[in-house]
Amino acid sequence: MSCMTGRDLSKACSYLEQGQLVAIPTETVYGLAGNAYVPEVVDQIFSVKGRPRSSPLIVHTDTITNVMKLVRRVPPKALRIAEAFWPGPLTLLLPKQDKISGLVTSGGDTVGVRIPNHPLTLELLARLAFPIAAPSANPFGYISPTAPQHVRMQLGDKVAYILDGGSCEVGVESTIVGFEDDLPVVYRLGGVTLERLESVTGSLIAQRTASVPCAPGMLPSHYAPRTPLVLGSLMGLLDLYQPERVALLTFDAIHPDIDPSLQVVLAPDASLTTAASRLFDALYRLDQMGVDRILASYVPDKGLGRAINDRLRRAAASHG
Ligand code: TXA
Ligand code: MG
Repeated sequence: MSCMTGRDLSKACSYLEQGQLVAIPTETVYGLAGNAYVPEVVDQIFSVKGRPRSSPLIVHTDTITNVMKLVRRVPPKALRIAEAFWPGPLTLLLPKQDKISGLVTSGGDTVGVRIPNHPLTLELLARLAFPIAAPSANPFGYISPTAPQHVRMQLGDKVAYILDGGSCEVGVESTIVGFEDDLPVVYRLGGVTLERLESVTGSLIAQRTASVPCAPGMLPSHYAPRTPLVLGSLMGLLDLYQPERVALLTFDAIHPDIDPSLQVVLAPDASLTTAASRLFDALYRLDQMGVDRILASYVPDKGLGRAINDRLRRAAASHG
């Protein structure tokens, strides 16, 4: 399949209606989208991504009314969260209706649902007569794409079309929230911070590491560049490696001892919002520098910083 990139919604719609896969922009990361109601299409998503079928997919739609057609029950707190954050970087795990195939949920009884906040994709979803299943549009385990060129580099020959919505504003994936006895449980830190969630729900369980079924965002090793990434204090790390063989990912300032062309500063303005929006692009760029190691420092562990540090830890975990 040869891939085209553009802003043509009718083209994106017709490919999806024909059962083909289209990369779609969201405010978090690009998604690898297909008709959620057609098991062959869902199966194709797993194949293209190289993802184990034991890891469920998020179903995307455009309104809370349409979400209600996919789920059996919405706990009162779920509705409050939905109304506060949708459209936005939030996924709710809710009991699924029978028309959602077990392939989407990896055999589980709950389905992940999300209303993404991107004007092109909201318009696309409004035109379609079916919801869209979409994992992040990267090969399993690799860095999530936040720009059309990231998708083109990794999966360009495997999708019918890339709908170009520019760079993703938020830059880290959605926060995933499930419910235990109607109490909210956070399964993945993401674009909606714990602080904002708590302000709406009151009490919540801050992070369940082991999710059921097994979720790739939860695996220790994920979001990883091919170049080994080491995470810690840059001062200490720089003593351990030859300076000309490493590239640096820093939070807000260039490190004076290393060639600036081998460094990416996440947020010169020291803002965590800026850092999140640039994180995955920074990892793509560092991965192309041809060094032996990427050395990365933690960002402040509050707000969006928690989701960023979570991704950095998983990126580092793949290389032991
Ligand atoms: O921001 C996002 O959520 C992006 C955009 C495209 O919407 N999507 C995304 O999908 O990050 P993916 O597949 O890369 O990550 C979804 C995570 C996985 O860890 C998956 O296992 C988990 O959500 N998940 C999905 N449905 C689930 C379910 N029913 N139960 C438990 N975990 C689920
Ligand atoms: Mg992913």
